[in-house]
Amino acid sequence: MEILDLRHFSSVDLRSLLDDEIRVWSQLLSWDYSGSADMIQRYIDAKILPGYAAIERGRIFGYSFFVYEGSKGVIGDLFVDNGEKPSNSYQVECQLLTHVIDTLQQSPGVHRVEAQLLVHEAGAVARPFLEQGFQRHSRLFMVLPLNHAMKPPKPLDPEIEIRRWTEQDYQSAASLITAAYRNHVDAEINDQYRTLSGSLRFLNNIVRFPGCGTFDAAASFVAVHKRLRSLVGLILCSRVRHDVGHVTQVCVLPELRSHGIGVSLLSATAANLRAKNFSVLSLTVTQANKGAVELYYHLGFDTKRVFDAFVWEG
Ligand SMILES: CC(C)(COP(=O)(O)OP(=O)(O)OC[C@H]1O[C@@H](n2cnc3c(N)ncnc32)[C@H](O)[C@@H]1OP(=O)(O)O)[C@@H](O)C(=O)NCCC(=O)NCCS
Repeated sequence: MEILDLRHFSSVDLRSLLDDEIRVWSQLLSWDYSGSADMIQRYIDAKILPGYAAIERGRIFGYSFFVYEGSKGVIGDLFVDNGEKPSNSYQVECQLLTHVIDTLQQSPGVHRVEAQLLVHEAGAVARPFLEQGFQRHSRLFMVLPLNHAMKPPKPLDPEIEIRRWTEQDYQSAASLITAAYRNHVDAEINDQYRTLSGSLRFLNNIVRFPGCGTFDAAASFVAVHKRLRSLVGLILCSRVRHDVGHVTQVCVLPELRSHGIGVSLLSATAANLRAKNFSVLSLTVTQANKGAVELYYHLGFDTKRVFDAFVWEG
């Protein structure tokens, strides 16, 4: 087995592995990965996707890639076909990760590396990260079946209105996200939340790019303080399969929490998806974010998987 630079290959070499990966994402997360797989193939053919491929007898049976975002490296994916020799696949995953981590940590100007590996069980590939000084955070992948209506939320303060997301909400949504995640564990996992420009980049990725499903504006809402005319909460939802919605963001200003705004936002999204015959709403949450985890259980979400987020600061 050899580990080679991914840029030596074309999308044809990776096709059957990506087909396996599409199956795995569908089985484990009810997620249609084909849009992401198309994007990966385009980047591979353009020879601009940094990463590594595991090769045996001329066949790629595992790969991992990463992207640079300024002084940060983000590990985008790790996938190894474990069909033939499952016991071997762990070794290959570790080797691929070791190459990726070494490359990122040695890249001039890179001071931070982030990874979230949704299809790997918590702990499954932690070793190469922990050996290289990464922090590990457990995250939950939770799902809410939409086959029955939610209990209606308690009425909100009449000063607060829930309305659809619009393109004009961009700037104020970025300020809201930055304020909502000040001193929050999720800002340790994703440093975009720490600044206004980072929150704008985050929004841009969610709303304009199909990496995390297709943004569903009709299922995304904001909470507005009518008198102050400012955003105090928001929920963003993307379509990750024809009948599955995924909450990519939900937050409320710290000073207005525990007034039912979070529940109202989640109920609005669930009701919109239910009316469109969606079957499931999913989300991810950091296990240490106990209030949010409580809230989701209270609404009927269940934990389907536990996975890891890793962060390194050089
Ligand atoms: C999670 C969040 C959106 C909830 O919004 P909210 O407006 O405070 O939620 P609600 O008022 O509708 O909460 C309803 C219930 O959820 C549970 N809950 C919410 N926050 C809680 C907390 N900090 N501790 C314990 N339970 C909590 C409670 O059951 C609560 O009922 P109560 O207020 O009567 O005790 C908000 O806390 C937030 O923005 N947090 C920071 C960003 C974040 O963590 N987002 C989620 C990322 S996955």
